[in-house]
Amino acid sequence: MTQVLLIGCGRMGGSLLKGWRESGVVDRAIVVDPAMPFLPGTTIVASLSDVAGPLPKTILLAVKPQMLDQVLPGLKERLPDGALVISIAAGKTLAYFADRLGPSAAVVRTMPNTPAAIGRGITVCCANGTVGAQQRETTDRLLAAVGQVAWTEDESLMHAVTAVSGSGPAYVFLLIEALQAAGEASGLPPDLAAQLARQTVAGSGELARRSPDDPAKLRADVTSPAGTTAAALTVLMAEDGLLALMKRAVAAATARSEELAKG
Ligand SMILES: NC(=O)c1ccc[n+]([C@@H]2O[C@H](COP(=O)([O-])OP(=O)(O)OC[C@H]3O[C@@H](n4cnc5c(N)ncnc54)[C@H](OP(=O)(O)O)[C@@H]3O)[C@@H](O)[C@H]2O)c1
Repeated sequence: MTQVLLIGCGRMGGSLLKGWRESGVVDRAIVVDPAMPFLPGTTIVASLSDVAGPLPKTILLAVKPQMLDQVLPGLKERLPDGALVISIAAGKTLAYFADRLGPSAAVVRTMPNTPAAIGRGITVCCANGTVGAQQRETTDRLLAAVGQVAWTEDESLMHAVTAVSGSGPAYVFLLIEALQAAGEASGLPPDLAAQLARQTVAGSGELARRSPDDPAKLRADVTSPAGTTAAALTVLMAEDGLLALMKRAVAAATARSEELAKG
């Protein structure tokens, strides 16, 4: 019987709760969120002090990172023996949680992304030394309800993870915007340019997801020698083109994540 205490139920916590309700992976969720409306079958309270009795042994923290200092002291006081704490708070390290919950608390730090809202997210997890095999499995099951799950044993990689998959959806949305703007600049009516850009990115993403071929092969399949696609790729794959630009963008996001971690 999986019982989960979900602390914070905004965009990301709400996506998780939806995934759990749809998949049935959680038998009982208790939600702590002052802004949460009534939801049938779910216990909702405004603050942790309103949760009666012992807390569930699986706790997922989905408040904004700056709210954690307010939440963790109350949680530490009531943390059950053998509890698993999963955090989705960007930038909050395992050492940060050890400081506030004690060094023996089992904590998994994770980085999900917004396609979790439609069950197509990807979450990267990093556990501290106290987390056991069964607790890893529980983490896997809870997060698999909203997409794929990957693990790293090297916490320092969470900066790059944040830069690639955490922030990544924004880059893809920008690609849609850029393709639409370029379509308009080439004479397409705005509505048609918007439709073509959105569906091309969405359809190509889905094709890449389902195909056994890697993206380079899928790209080559669309590109006939000296054709129209080749003409565009000459620009996009130039030395200062999209590959170089994306490397710089991800490096900038990684550096910013490292900077934020220093406080
Ligand atoms: N969005 C992303 O792309 C993304 C990606 C990866 C990770 N994350 C992480 O996910 C976490 C949540 O982000 P979000 O975008 O879902 O934020 P959000 O929509 O603001 O959700 C946070 C929720 O927590 C509630 N809350 C505030 N203080 C609380 C308290 N003391 N106890 C219980 N609930 C409280 C908020 O209520 P009020 O609105 O009333 O304050 C809100 O409903 C963050 O730590 C973020 O770093 C987000």
